[in-house]
Amino acid sequence: MDNEMRSRLNHLRKGGIPGTKEEFRLMYEDWAIDYDKEILCDFAYKLCKPMTVMFDAALNTFTKKRRQDIKIIDIAAGTGLIGLELHKMGYTSLHALDSSQKMLNEARKKGIYTQFFCLPIDDQRILEINTADYDALICVNGFGNNHILPSALAEMCRIVMKGGLLCFDIREQCMEEWEDKLKELERKGMWETVTKEKLPVDDDDKTNAFVFKLL
Ligand SMILES: C[S@@+](CC[C@H](N)C(=O)[O-])C[C@H]1O[C@@H](n2cnc3c(N)ncnc32)[C@H](O)[C@@H]1O
Repeated sequence: MDNEMRSRLNHLRKGGIPGTKEEFRLMYEDWAIDYDKEILCDFAYKLCKPMTVMFDAALNTFTKKRRQDIKIIDIAAGTGLIGLELHKMGYTSLHALDSSQKMLNEARKKGIYTQFFCLPIDDQRILEINTADYDALICVNGFGNNHILPSALAEMCRIVMKGGLLCFDIREQCMEEWEDKLKELERKGMWETVTKEKLPVDDDDKTNAFVFKLL
């Protein structure tokens, strides 16, 4: 990774760096091969385990299906670190969606996802995915910092079935941008909060982790 890329990533950790969708896509295209090494070591990334444990606990409470039969989409799946944790727990019906093909290429090497969607999620309908197709959705480290925007939540809700779960995190510094949208969906009776926790991302950063149940 060159110095320019490294400095962009340092900004990314602090939140709110300017950049177009295309600039971010290219940043991940360049980062893909080194992502696991960098994020797991240099950045002491701590989210994979606690997010998947939280998701698993909610799935155990709200789903009667066996783990291998629970159809899950990992949004902003990146290189598949979240999918890897879920797979170890016995979730094997896993699909991955990400806007970077090179990140998905790394995810594919892990051999844990059965389907891949290389596209951005935003306020547009994803024609390749049917309504209510998934039992659950997880998105870790994909919200905020000009990645996925609050306007994408409606599409995320569309692809999950009623009674299904959405699990995601929002960095502390980005909460303001998201708070109104989260409350609006609750007020409109779209979902109810199942879990809300503060989790460390790395040594000096925290994120708000949520599970919502669709109504
Ligand atoms: C910080 S990585 C997180 C990857 C993985 N979830 C993890 O925890 O390691 C963010 C990912 O979001 C993807 N991304 C950014 N904006 C996106 C969008 N609008 N739709 C889909 N993926 C997006 C990037 O390509 C990148 O792979």
